[in-house]
Amino acid sequence: MAQHPPNPHATTLTADPAVGVNYASLYGWSDPFGEPTPVTRRTDPELKEAAPATERPIAVVTGASSGIGAATARSLAQLGYHVILAARRVDKLNALAAEIRGVPVACDATDPAQVAHLAEVAGKTVNVLVNNAGGALGQDPLERTDLDLYEQMYQRNVMTAARVTQALLPAIRRAAGTIVFVTSVAADAPYEGGAGYCGAKAAERALVRSLRLELNGEPIRVVDISPGLVHTDEFSLTRFAGDQARADAVYAGVPNPLTAEDIADAITWMVTRPPHVNIDHLEIRPVAQAANHKVFRQR
Ligand SMILES: NC(=O)c1ccc[n+]([C@@H]2O[C@H](COP(=O)([O-])OP(=O)(O)OC[C@H]3O[C@@H](n4cnc5c(N)ncnc54)[C@H](OP(=O)(O)O)[C@@H]3O)[C@@H](O)[C@H]2O)c1
Repeated sequence: MAQHPPNPHATTLTADPAVGVNYASLYGWSDPFGEPTPVTRRTDPELKEAAPATERPIAVVTGASSGIGAATARSLAQLGYHVILAARRVDKLNALAAEIRGVPVACDATDPAQVAHLAEVAGKTVNVLVNNAGGALGQDPLERTDLDLYEQMYQRNVMTAARVTQALLPAIRRAAGTIVFVTSVAADAPYEGGAGYCGAKAAERALVRSLRLELNGEPIRVVDISPGLVHTDEFSLTRFAGDQARADAVYAGVPNPLTAEDIADAITWMVTRPPHVNIDHLEIRPVAQAANHKVFRQR
């Protein structure tokens, strides 16, 4: 296996008075930027399913009841993570938890008490948090949209990520962990009828960037994956309030839109980089989508 170059932070962080804080002694780490961390070792394929749950690295995935969240939970479990699955629909979580030996937690991530319960279940150390809960509601022009939907989208995409991150940060810090945010290319380029969703995703992106600055100097990775068109079962169905024909039209004729598994694969790659490597922002689209508005369709 290729050797990684020495990490310049490894000596400066603990010795440089300019940094001001000795994180190693503060948090009891022997070498906070050293490599590899136990998480990296325990994701080796031969350790799959080998260790009892409590000895496996812990991943918390929000919005794990469907789509990208469920696929990410499966992918991380295959690598050896003990996955805590959070969402509101507990029946779906139970089925996935049985499949991957995970822990289902009924959690509306906009509710402080339920998020506190999630943090309690997650325990003292969390190696990976995937802030995936979210989604779009409606696509009407501003002139006639129901503005309550804007508020709901802000809650669903921004406040879920903010609340869960805040609640789990002490446990992530203890593990020198990784925080993943599933934002969207919608954050970069608004489209007609997208003001509520694009604005919420842009706000979530701002949260990612501020947090990374705030945590600078600590060995915590803050990564953002920004998908384009992903054909999941529920994203468009939820957006169009259960109108299947309208949801299907979003993907009609598009050769090979991304799948939930494609995004899960990318997230898994991001969190399994060597611990000194932070994938700040990964934009990922299907080949058929050259830009938000430029989607090739076969007629
Ligand atoms: N599909 C795409 O094209 C696409 C593109 C870019 C970004 N994204 C983003 O990727 C993420 C996943 O999307 P997806 O395509 O997998 O759609 P999805 O299947 O609809 O997943 C959304 C998930 O969020 C959960 N959720 C919603 N509100 C919640 C809340 N208050 N508390 C806890 N969980 C909540 C839902 O679970 P419950 O209903 O059970 O709570 C569900 O599991 C979203 O953040 C979405 O904005 C999707």
